[in-house]
Amino acid sequence: QDSLPAGYVVRPLSRTDNQLRSNTSFLKTLEVLTTVGTISDEAFLARFQYLKDHSDQYYTIVIEDMNVPATLAGSATSSSPSLVTPGRGKIVAAGTVLVERKFIHELGMVGHIEDIAVSADQQGKKLGLRIIETLKAIGQQVGCYKVILDCSEKNVPFYEKCGFERKGVEMGWYV
Ligand code: ACO
Repeated sequence: QDSLPAGYVVRPLSRTDNQLRSNTSFLKTLEVLTTVGTISDEAFLARFQYLKDHSDQYYTIVIEDMNVPATLAGSATSSSPSLVTPGRGKIVAAGTVLVERKFIHELGMVGHIEDIAVSADQQGKKLGLRIIETLKAIGQQVGCYKVILDCSEKNVPFYEKCGFERKGVEMGWYV
């Protein structure tokens, strides 16, 4: 397995990962996927707490670049220094595995990989691969008999590199 660049760490999402740090927050990182919208700190914390209360079901991880202290990372930090945790770096990648508990397969469990995001300027450094490898390992450790995901056609080569194979067809119904 490829090692992370020096100073990069993989860790669980933390409640401080949405603090105002210009382009360095968790929610900013998710913007490579789709619209994230305006989410207050309070709303973020409420959702974070929900995940925490269901911590055997939601595993959200991030990669943090510790080479870039948050206090130097963006203009928003200078206008709101109290919101910055000193010494922390910036979030550069994120992903979730959601563990579903089934009746079939003798009460089997399935891991669903969701919302894989690597910041645009950090793509191609194997960070996506590392996020997926970590989520697969979590799924395996908690006892999932498979880990699955939906993706667009253009991401198929990436997921094949991560050890996945085409299976079934994704269907969607949008409200
Ligand atoms: N086409 C072909 N190969 C690719 C592609 C691609 N689009 N993307 C990555 N790869 C290859 C890399 O070349 C590398 O191959 P190598 O080991 O032979 O060198 C391997 O896959 C691993 O690539 P990483 O460097 O780990 O990829 P990266 O860190 O850039 O992450 C990701 C890939 C997550 C798709 C990233 O580009 C991204 O965030 N894109 C925008 C958001 C997105 O589409 N997320 C996935 C949505 S699907 C879901 O969430 C379940």
